[in-house]
Amino acid sequence: MRIYKEKNYEEASIRAAQIVADQIKFKNDSVLGLATGTTPIGMYKTLVEKYKEGEITFQDVKTVNLDEYRGLADDDKNSYHYFMNENLFSKVDIDIANTHLPNGMANVPEEECKEYEDLLKSLGGVDLQILGLGGNGHIGFNEPGTPFTETTHLVNLTDSTIKANSRLFEKIEDVPKQAYSMGIKSILDAKRILMIVTGESKAEALAKVVKGPVTEDVPGSILQRHRDVIIICDEAAAAKL
Ligand code: F6R
Repeated sequence: MRIYKEKNYEEASIRAAQIVADQIKFKNDSVLGLATGTTPIGMYKTLVEKYKEGEITFQDVKTVNLDEYRGLADDDKNSYHYFMNENLFSKVDIDIANTHLPNGMANVPEEECKEYEDLLKSLGGVDLQILGLGGNGHIGFNEPGTPFTETTHLVNLTDSTIKANSRLFEKIEDVPKQAYSMGIKSILDAKRILMIVTGESKAEALAKVVKGPVTEDVPGSILQRHRDVIIICDEAAAAKL
């Protein structure tokens, strides 16, 4: 694991965007694994700036997102499809046919999970996977206790995750109770992993991910076993390292 400690959220976002931009420059048809949530918003903003300045093009880039809520349509303001369109896809020259998220409206969850795993394989694997970190140590929607061997699956969200995510919904009852998520195994298959962790509310979880035992109780701790992981954090998140 390589850990970069930046001063604040803005600096962390710039550093993360530079790593993604370098990946695209190195391999213009890179497969990027993408995350949603508050953390990567600054990174996406910087990537859009880099595109506008002509530093990078997304023309041949392919993307796969980590997760999507079950029961939300693509155009629902709270769906991750909507988030990705708002923060990145509609602002750069990516071919929308090359962007992929689980289908929250799929009729048969088991089939959707299998198709998503097949898709990951057909793309030849993820070159660079972006991750955020949950306050409880989750990655994707892999909550504490999720087996490390899990591939894409349907998750029952924990109360703490529903509460944390309710800030983006009008009321807590609107937060879906289930989501599709790439599993830990699917995430670990990525060639490189870039995790961004900012804010003091993540300090405890980050310390466990980096220094704690590798345990399914802290899903992110498995990253200690991946050969190419970069963690970018700010000073607040690094407080307990
Ligand atoms: C989002 C995802 C989640 C978030 C995590 C942190 O696609 O997979 O694991 O990365 O919940 O969320 P924020 O960044 O909102 O604190």
